[in-house]
Amino acid sequence: MRVVLNPVSMDFCSARLAILSVLKGVRAGDLPRLLHWMKTTSDFNEFSSNNDDVVLRNIAEDLRHSLPTEAMFVSEHFAIQKLNQQTKPTVHIDAFLYDDDCIDALCEEGKMSRNYCLACGSHRTAPLEFISHSFSLMELKFLYQHVLPDLTGKVVVDVGSRLGAVLFGGYFYSSASQIYGIEMNADFCQLQEVVIKKYHLDDRIKVLKADICTQASVLHNADVIVMNNVFEYFLDRSEQARSWEFISQNVRKKGSLLVTVPSLEKSLSYLQVDIQLNQWVEAIPLDYDIFLEEDADREALEQISLYKII
Ligand SMILES: C[S@@+](CC[C@H](N)C(=O)[O-])C[C@H]1O[C@@H](n2cnc3c(N)ncnc32)[C@H](O)[C@@H]1O
Repeated sequence: MRVVLNPVSMDFCSARLAILSVLKGVRAGDLPRLLHWMKTTSDFNEFSSNNDDVVLRNIAEDLRHSLPTEAMFVSEHFAIQKLNQQTKPTVHIDAFLYDDDCIDALCEEGKMSRNYCLACGSHRTAPLEFISHSFSLMELKFLYQHVLPDLTGKVVVDVGSRLGAVLFGGYFYSSASQIYGIEMNADFCQLQEVVIKKYHLDDRIKVLKADICTQASVLHNADVIVMNNVFEYFLDRSEQARSWEFISQNVRKKGSLLVTVPSLEKSLSYLQVDIQLNQWVEAIPLDYDIFLEEDADREALEQISLYKII
């Protein structure tokens, strides 16, 4: 039987026949190698990932097309200024928008480099610092599928929701009943709204354009509060200190969970604040070994800390 290869419209039977036909056409000497590759390769992973992953990847693709490569808006004056002051050459690459394969593709197209030249004209190079302003898909899965308990009926608040990665991850990877994003930058709020509308996520996701320090009641009602590098790159030190004081005074619901990157200890160590951590939270150790995804970036996962409010 002649098999017509038309990957867009093939049903199961024709796809199966097409695969068998390819196998029959392989040189005898190469067949064992091909079969071994088919049994062991990770090249098929993208086809077996579930529908939630596919939707999240589509959202990331839509957002990639709406933003420049560094995924920042000119309205982020303070953040741009701060990033320009980095002592080591740094690339801003948003981990929700660009996974390793995307970065490789950009490098191949010459639009990005993983290295910088140490001495102009020489071949000496060093790896660039990468900064991401969002959680990656891998981190979101770890957060919702391994770190947090069942969130049925619970309220999640992402402080500084930016592209909405934590909100969209919460929508698809958890059963949280309400997921709030608080974001002070109007351009990012608008971007999140476009996604919420296009993918019909407004039954559970709500974005508020506000400084978190004006949102005490949202914090009072939250069961889970996520704070991924919220203040460090976006506020000066006195504003960071003021914001952390506000958080510590208003995230008080006993038993609620606080997720931070980096740890509270690290964030607060640079600031002059009067926050007694041992009277506010209890650190919950995380098991990073339970997350066995092939592309798991252990170093990134270890930045995630979990606390219970006491
Ligand atoms: C590193 S991004 C976090 C992105 C997102 N939560 C995630 O994990 O993918 C931090 C965001 O917090 C916002 N932000 C900083 N300070 C804020 C404040 N006081 N109130 C609301 N948003 C704030 C910034 O505009 C920025 O978009």
